[in-house]
Amino acid sequence: MGPKRSDTGPVTSPTPGEQPAIPPFPLARPEVETLTAYSAPLEGRRGLLRLDFNENTVGPSPKVVEAVRAIPADHYAIYPEYAGLPEAVVRSLVAEAAPGNGTALTPAHIGLFNGVDEALHAVFHAFAAPGDRLLTTSPTFGYYTPCARMQGMAIEAIPYRLPDFAFPFEEIRAALAASAPRLLLICNPNNPTGTRLAPERILELAAAATATATLVVVDELYEAFTGDSVLPSLLAAGAAAGGAPDPFAPFPNLLVLRSLAKTAGLAGLRFGFAVGAPALVDRVSRVGGPYDVNSFAVTAAHAALADQAYTDAYVAEVLRARAWLLEHLVAAGVRHHAAGGNYLLIWPVRPAADVEVELRAAGILVRSMAGKPLIDGALRVSLGSTEQMATFWAAYRRIEALG
Ligand SMILES: Cc1ncc(COP(=O)(O)O)c(C=O)c1O
Repeated sequence: MGPKRSDTGPVTSPTPGEQPAIPPFPLARPEVETLTAYSAPLEGRRGLLRLDFNENTVGPSPKVVEAVRAIPADHYAIYPEYAGLPEAVVRSLVAEAAPGNGTALTPAHIGLFNGVDEALHAVFHAFAAPGDRLLTTSPTFGYYTPCARMQGMAIEAIPYRLPDFAFPFEEIRAALAASAPRLLLICNPNNPTGTRLAPERILELAAAATATATLVVVDELYEAFTGDSVLPSLLAAGAAAGGAPDPFAPFPNLLVLRSLAKTAGLAGLRFGFAVGAPALVDRVSRVGGPYDVNSFAVTAAHAALADQAYTDAYVAEVLRARAWLLEHLVAAGVRHHAAGGNYLLIWPVRPAADVEVELRAAGILVRSMAGKPLIDGALRVSLGSTEQMATFWAAYRRIEALG
């Protein structure tokens, strides 16, 4: 008798007296056998105007380019070294949050990762077991779901409140108390709705979550575009207290994720970091490999962190471009939703899939939100420079036959 399993079907149990079926290859854990991997249409994008993944659209600081080019070829053969990088991250966070004040943020509060994607993966790997619950919102960043599923977690995703996609604060607070989730994941501002939640409200949730031993993860990937980080108040409180106690002492269950992908323009090099109580960061870091962040990313991260002025100027340009595009969307009566982040949602009159294809033919990539709860039919358009948004707008007006 042949094997009773196909690539798409489970192994069937043998009838009494039959030999157990032997799978054609070793099967993965049950959670992995049923997993749909996170996949994004990331091929063939070079040379096009990339408004589909919220990347930096102009590239990193020239100082980053110079630093990476200066890496001698023989260094490619050496495993990466991380000394000094957590310290550089601390300096940049302190400069952003509490300039001039000493705080007790230390390198032990920082975990280095191959992008926030790896940090997320590590959080789930370190903390979640089969049957544990993930509490989050919907729609939100797509990678949270496979991370939860691969650990066998149950997911409770609470919808944003229509019509403005407001954060479902009371519902999240009630669910936290009712189901004692292992993890609460908040994307602030949220991708793709842009929903902003005030840092004090997040800290309120984190304080409530201590009662249920819930780990609260705040994905602050796009916070540079809103300034809504939880870190400034934590660091300022630490500094004001004198003697500089651990700024995370009141929130031992809070982990903040940041990346240099979207603002500093290092998406291709992959570098992100986690900030939290040293005990928490230690656990999340335990499940990674010893050299997950490569040498090019280390060099680029040092150079990018040292050139905050470049990132600040890019963020300022994106915010100008956002205001420019919003003015035109309003004037043309186009249905849209814009809140935080370097992206906004637009509902075309024609089918979104057709508009997406026609924009691509014009050399412009945007992301269809087809199949996403609450925003099916919308396009998510990333924001770049004003000139790039003018290129987008000219093509969009033509395709949608706007006057
Ligand atoms: C909300 C959110 N978190 C995390 C990531 C992944 O970031 P990174 O490139 O640092 O892995 C993305 C990328 O799109 C994102 O939108």
